[in-house]
Amino acid sequence: MRTIWWQDQTVHLIDQTKLPHQEIIVECRDYPDVANAIATMQIRGAPAIGVTAAYGVALGAWRAPADSVPDLLAQLQPVYETLRATRPTAVNLFWGIDKMRRYADAVAAGTDDADEVRRLLLAEAERLADEDVATNRRMGEYGAALIEDGMNVLTHCNTGALAVVDYGTALGVIRAAWEQGKHIHVWVDETRPFLQGARLTAWELMKLGIPMTLISDNMAGHFMRRGQVDAVFVGADRIAANGDVANKIGTYSVAVLAHENGIPFYSVIPVSTLDLSLASGEQIPIEERDPREVTHIQGVPIAPEGVHVANPAFDVTPNRYVTAIVTNRGVVYPPFEEGLRRVVAESEGNV
Ligand code: MRU
Repeated sequence: MRTIWWQDQTVHLIDQTKLPHQEIIVECRDYPDVANAIATMQIRGAPAIGVTAAYGVALGAWRAPADSVPDLLAQLQPVYETLRATRPTAVNLFWGIDKMRRYADAVAAGTDDADEVRRLLLAEAERLADEDVATNRRMGEYGAALIEDGMNVLTHCNTGALAVVDYGTALGVIRAAWEQGKHIHVWVDETRPFLQGARLTAWELMKLGIPMTLISDNMAGHFMRRGQVDAVFVGADRIAANGDVANKIGTYSVAVLAHENGIPFYSVIPVSTLDLSLASGEQIPIEERDPREVTHIQGVPIAPEGVHVANPAFDVTPNRYVTAIVTNRGVVYPPFEEGLRRVVAESEGNV
């Protein structure tokens, strides 16, 4: 299953707001459609957002009326700005846009054919999409070594094929362990308020045939205390230089509970989720979303009208609760900063 693809000069996405009951494809014909799909979470999950934004830049170039390369570069500026304004927390969004912008500037220096720049930008977006799948498979291999036969693992939010281009990060690790023949069982947090666990992770695991049990978020501690959880695997939307992990709201509670119960807690990320410009998680911007996500479920009100609501979409787990960070360049253990700098340097070809 591929979450994002280019077809007939249009970006296609699986609409994740409609899953699991309806499988609907969204067709984005210009970059504002891509921006809208990211902002409304028709597409979500940090790596998926990054690749979708890259396709958004390619689509913006495709639709721009420019005849000359300088005009095309000028017309790409609002494309970058619009896409950057969609969601603030997942650093992969900015990674994808910045990669495309640098690439556009570099290829523009070598040609005076605007259509060639368009073709190359699309090829670059396709390359980033393919690279994402390969990256996930590598993380799967590294992470699966941490899962033993017979383990019960707990996961929060959705980190499967839907959250990337294909395969998954934390769910990719679980999937890789399963594909290696390990008998595992997955506790799936429902992940209020957007229900990525109940709607998306449960759907993906059931399709894959991996044994799982759906629980509401407040049940995790109960099963941990009873010795029924052996490890926790989550993704991340941004990890700071010191290893603090910003991930879906509720992750912090899971990490503290895991620590209290002596259960290892792993975050699984591609290197593009690292933001070494931030010293700690305190500096990571946390998205605040529409109160209706809390007061309504699938359009049905569950709280008194007019109630005051907070809806932070992410929280930060301090590095002391993180056992290890699984990346596509290997597993990094505390103290994190040196190891995280090494994997970034390796992926930039600097070592
Ligand atoms: O708000 P979302 O659904 O985009 O948040 C997604 C998460 O928090 C995931 O855990 C994270 O992006 C890692 S996905 C591979």
